[in-house]
This record gives sequence, structure tokens and C-alpha cells, in this order.
Amino acid sequence: MNEVMQIIRQRRSVRKYQPRQLPPEECRSIVEAGLYAPSGMNRQPVHITVVRRNDLTDRITSELKAAVARMPGNRYRDYVGAAGYTVNFGAPTFMIVSANPARAATAEADCACALENMFLAARSFGIGSCWVNQLGSVTDDDAFQRFLQEELAFPAGNVIFGAAAFGYPAGDFPPAPSRRGSSNWVE
Ligand SMILES: Cc1cc2nc3c(=O)[nH]c(=O)nc-3n(C[C@H](O)[C@H](O)[C@H](O)COP(=O)(O)O)c2cc1C
Repeated sequence: MNEVMQIIRQRRSVRKYQPRQLPPEECRSIVEAGLYAPSGMNRQPVHITVVRRNDLTDRITSELKAAVARMPGNRYRDYVGAAGYTVNFGAPTFMIVSANPARAATAEADCACALENMFLAARSFGIGSCWVNQLGSVTDDDAFQRFLQEELAFPAGNVIFGAAAFGYPAGDFPPAPSRRGSSNWVE
């Protein structure tokens, strides 16, 4: 099995991290991997916001909690409202992946491609990761947008299609359970 196939099979979502920060060069490589992902019509609309300060990640958690509490129908109300919830599982690096749908009809798929590239690059450095889906649900909240733009230099007009925690796992990467997805061959 070649190295790429090994990394694909070894990647797992990690939800418990060491506090040790990632080296900046590995963080830059993860971002580069995201930006080298394919995009519909090569529009390359993806923007990656890298947050490497715990006080700011804590602010993201508290602003998210407040925004979700303002939305009675939010599907993450119980999950985000639970005691002890943090957006990053305690990981030292957090990345928000966004794009402007007015610039690219495939913005959501483009962001998903970027995230998977980022996860695989991270795994190749022994860095764990986990997709975090809650932020997208409050992307339209005015106060949350103001916070993103003022504190995180988030591009106006962008929509959050995904986010992810990155860090060294506290413990081993568990082996991947066998997959339920299917394929059929016609040849
Ligand atoms: C679109 C998407 C959204 C996800 N959202 C979350 C999330 O909000 N929180 C979380 O802990 N895991 C999230 N995950 C991770 C999945 O739970 C995980 O990939 C799945 O359980 C399979 O485990 P594995 O990644 O270790 O192979 C998400 C994954 C995808 C692809």
C-alpha cells in the first residue's frame, strides 16, 4: 500500500488532544493542502481562518453558544448548550473554512474537498483532526458575523461550510472500523 493510501486509512476523527501547539510550518502545510484541493470551475473560493490562540477559541465557543441560544430552532441547541461543550475539543489549533457562494456555485463542496485534504495532510504529520459542524448553523447571525469579522478578520460575505480542530491526540489514533459505504463495478 503506498503512503497516501496508508494515510487515508489511518485518518480518524480525534476528540481528545494534548495542549501542545503545532509547529507553524506544519500548520502552514495543512493550510496549503486545503488550498490545493480541487474546486468547481477552478474558482478557488476557499478561505481558511487559522486560530492558534486559546483565548480566541474560547471566544468562538462563547459567541457560538450565545448565537445558538438566540435561535429557537437551531439543531445544535442541546449539543452546544451542554455543560462542558467547547468548539475545539481542547485542540490548540482551530480552522474555519468558508467561501462566498456568490463567487462559486460549488462553494460548499469546494470547502469539503479542502477540509479532507487538510485532514490527510495533518495525519501525515501525526496530527489529529476533527470536523466541527456547528459554526455553519450561526453563520447568518448578525452578532456572530460581527464577532468573526472584527476579531478574526473573517471575509464579509463568506459562509462557514466547515471548521476543524487540529492537534496531537491524547492517546493513540484508533484503527478505523471497517466501512459501510458501498461500491459497484461495471466493466
Ligand atoms: C460533514 C461532516 C460533519 C461532521 N461534524 C462533526 C461534528 O460536528 N462533531 C464531531 O465530533 N464530528 C463530526 N464529524 C466527524 C464524523 O463524526 C466522523 O468522520 C465519523 O464518525 C467517522 O469517524 P472517522 O472520521 O474517525 O473515520 C463530521 C464529519 C463530516 C464529514
